[in-house]
Amino acid sequence: MNQPSSQFVKKTILKLLRAIGSEKEIKKYIQKFSSAEQHFAVIKVGGSVVKDDLENLITSLIFLDQVGLKPVILHGAGPMLTEELESRAIDFSFIDGQRVTSNEVMSVAQKVFTETNKRIVDKLQDQGAKAIGITHSVFECTLGYPKLGLVGKINKVNISDINSAIDKDMIPVIAPLGYESSKTLNINADLATIELVKAIKPYKVVFLSETGGIFNNENRLIETINLALEYDELMQEDWLHSGMRLKLKQIKTLLDFLPKSSSVSITQPINLPKELFTDSGSGTMVKHGFRIKNYKAADSAIKVDFKNIIEASFNKKLIPDFFDQNSKLNIFMSSCNRATIAISEDFLIPYMDKFGVLPDAKGEGLGAGLWSEMRKVYPKLFWRSRRNNSINSFYSSICDGCQKHSEWHVYWIGIEDYSLLKDCIEYAISKPKSVI
Ligand code: ARG
Repeated sequence: MNQPSSQFVKKTILKLLRAIGSEKEIKKYIQKFSSAEQHFAVIKVGGSVVKDDLENLITSLIFLDQVGLKPVILHGAGPMLTEELESRAIDFSFIDGQRVTSNEVMSVAQKVFTETNKRIVDKLQDQGAKAIGITHSVFECTLGYPKLGLVGKINKVNISDINSAIDKDMIPVIAPLGYESSKTLNINADLATIELVKAIKPYKVVFLSETGGIFNNENRLIETINLALEYDELMQEDWLHSGMRLKLKQIKTLLDFLPKSSSVSITQPINLPKELFTDSGSGTMVKHGFRIKNYKAADSAIKVDFKNIIEASFNKKLIPDFFDQNSKLNIFMSSCNRATIAISEDFLIPYMDKFGVLPDAKGEGLGAGLWSEMRKVYPKLFWRSRRNNSINSFYSSICDGCQKHSEWHVYWIGIEDYSLLKDCIEYAISKPKSVI
C-alpha cells in the first residue's frame, strides 16, 4: 500500500476507534499491546466464524494491522470439513468431541483446512495486510490416540515460522494440522490453541465466536470473570451449560500458564476492536484475578496505599485528616493494591465514602470484583458522586434509587424506610469534601 493511502486508512481507523472509546483509552491499549517484551495476541477463530462471518473477521484484523499490531491467528474448519465429508458421502464419527480420522477423512481434512487457511490469507492480502499461511510446520505430534486414527498428540510447538513471519511484519495464520515425520495429522483446534498459547505466552488470548461471550442465568453477558474470586462458584452454577463450562476450564488452564498480566477475551469478530481498545470491552474477559482484602483497622502502610489509589484515580489530594474524620472505616482493597473502596460506618447506615481504581488498571475488572465483594458485606448502602463523574452510569444501573442535587448525585441500595432515606441524603450532601 502506498504512503498517502495508508495514512488515510490509519486516520479513518483512529476516527472509527474514537467513536467506540476515548482517544486516551485507545492510545493506552495500543501502547500496552505494542510492548516488545510479550507477543501481542493469539486469536482463535472458530470454524463456523470463518464460514459465516468472514467479512467482519477480516475487517477487524485489518484494523489491528493498521495500528501496527500483529496477532497470531489460529483457525478451525470443522463445519466445512463436515460439509465436505457429507457431500462426498464419507462416513465419520466423534469420540468425546474429537473426530475419528481415517485415511480418507484425513485427506479431505488436509484439503479443507488448507483451503480455509488460504481463504483467510487471501482476504487479508486483498485488503492490503501482509499475511502468511502456516499449515504444517507448527505442531510436532505422535499418533497418541489409537481409537481416533490419524489424530495427533502434540509433543512440541515449533514457533520459528511464526516468529519469522512477525519479524517480517506479516500476520501468521495457522491451521490446526500436526505432523509426524512426513505424515500430516488432524489435531483438535482447541488443544492446538492451548499448546500454541503456552509456547507463545501472549499478552491477550482472544476467542472469536458467534455468541461473543459467556452469559449468565438471565442471559446477560458476563463482562469480566476474576478466576481467583469466582471460578469455583461459577463452575458450580447449574445455568453454566456444558460447552461454556468446558471453555472456562480451558481458559483457566491457559491462564495458569500465562503471566499475571495476560487475559483471555471472548467476543464476536465485529466487536474485536472494541474489546481490545476500550476499558469496558465488548465481550467476556477472564483474568487470573486478585483477591480482595478487607481492613477494619488499617495500618499506616494500607493508609498510604489507599491514599495513592484515591489520589491517582480522582487526580486530587485526599484531605490530610481523612482518617481522623472517619473513625469507623472499613477498607476493601484488591490484593494488587490498585483498587479500593472505603465504607464509613460512622452513620446509621453504611456510607461508601470512596471508590477508586488506578487509571492504568481500568478495564481489568478490578472495580467490578471489588464492588461485588463489598456488596456481600453491605446489603444496605448509600453514597454520593459528583454529577459529572463518568462512573454515574454504572451507579445508576446498580442502585435502587438516586436523588440528583446540583453538586452531587446521591445513590442508595436496600434502604426502604423513607425518613431514614431522607437522613441519609441529608448526611451525604452535607458531608465535607474528602478530596480537594
Ligand atoms: N481492552 C482491555 C483488554 O482487552 C479491556 C477489555 C475489557 N473487556 C471486558 N469484556 N470487560 O485487555
